[in-house]
Amino acid sequence: MIVRAEGPDDHEDIRRIVDEAFGDTITSAIVDGIRASDRFVPELSLVAVSEGQSLGHVISSYVDVVPDTRRVLQVGPLAVVPSHQRRGIGIALMLATIRIADERGEPLLLIEGNPAYYGRFGFTRADERGIEMPPESRGPQFFMIRPLGAYDPRLRGRAVYPPETFGVAY
Ligand SMILES: CC(C)(COP(=O)(O)OP(=O)(O)OC[C@H]1O[C@@H](n2cnc3c(N)ncnc32)[C@H](O)[C@@H]1OP(=O)(O)O)[C@@H](O)C(=O)NCCC(=O)NCCS
Repeated sequence: MIVRAEGPDDHEDIRRIVDEAFGDTITSAIVDGIRASDRFVPELSLVAVSEGQSLGHVISSYVDVVPDTRRVLQVGPLAVVPSHQRRGIGIALMLATIRIADERGEPLLLIEGNPAYYGRFGFTRADERGIEMPPESRGPQFFMIRPLGAYDPRLRGRAVYPPETFGVAY
C-alpha cells in the first residue's frame, strides 16, 4: 500500500471512500468544500492506494484560532472503506499527515474524534493546552491537539470552523 497526495483524477474515488466510510454524503461535501476553499493544503489530502484500488483518504485544512490570528491545521475527515478497515490504513494515513505537517513547519494539528483512536498518535485534549473547542464540537474530550516540532504554547484561543468548509455539516 502507498500513501500519496491526491490528484485531479482522485476526486470521485475520494467521494466514494468518504460516503462509504461515514454512510452519508454530508462528510464528502465537507471534503469538497475544503478543496474549493483557501483552507486547502493539496499535499495534505492523502489517498491510500493498494493494487490500484483507493481504499482510504484523509484531509487537513486550516481553521482559525481566535483572537490569535494564526491559522492552524485541523485533520479530518479520515475515512477508510468498510471492507478494508482495521488493517492499518487509517494509522498509515495519520502517520503520513503528522510527518508532512511537521516537515511544513506547522506548530500543531487539531482533530475532532474518538480519543481511543487518536490517542495513539499523541493527540490529547486541546483545552488543556489552551485551545478551546469550537461551539459545534461534541465535547472537550473529543477536541484534541497534537503538538509538532514548531509548537508554540502561546498559540491559544478558541478554534473556529470556517463556514466554507466545515459549515456544511452544521
Ligand atoms: C476510524 C477509521 C478511520 C480507522 O481506520 P482503520 O484503517 O479502520 O483503522 P486502523 O486499522 O488504522 O487502526 C486499527 C486500530 O484502530 C482501532 N479502531 C478502529 N476504528 C476505531 C474507532 N472508531 N474507535 C476506536 N478505535 C478504533 C482498532 O481497534 C485498531 O486498534 P488495535 O489494533 O489496537 O485493536 C475507519 O474505521 C473509518 O473510516 N471509520 C468510519 C469513519 C470515521 O469514523 N472516521 C473517523 C472520524 S473523522
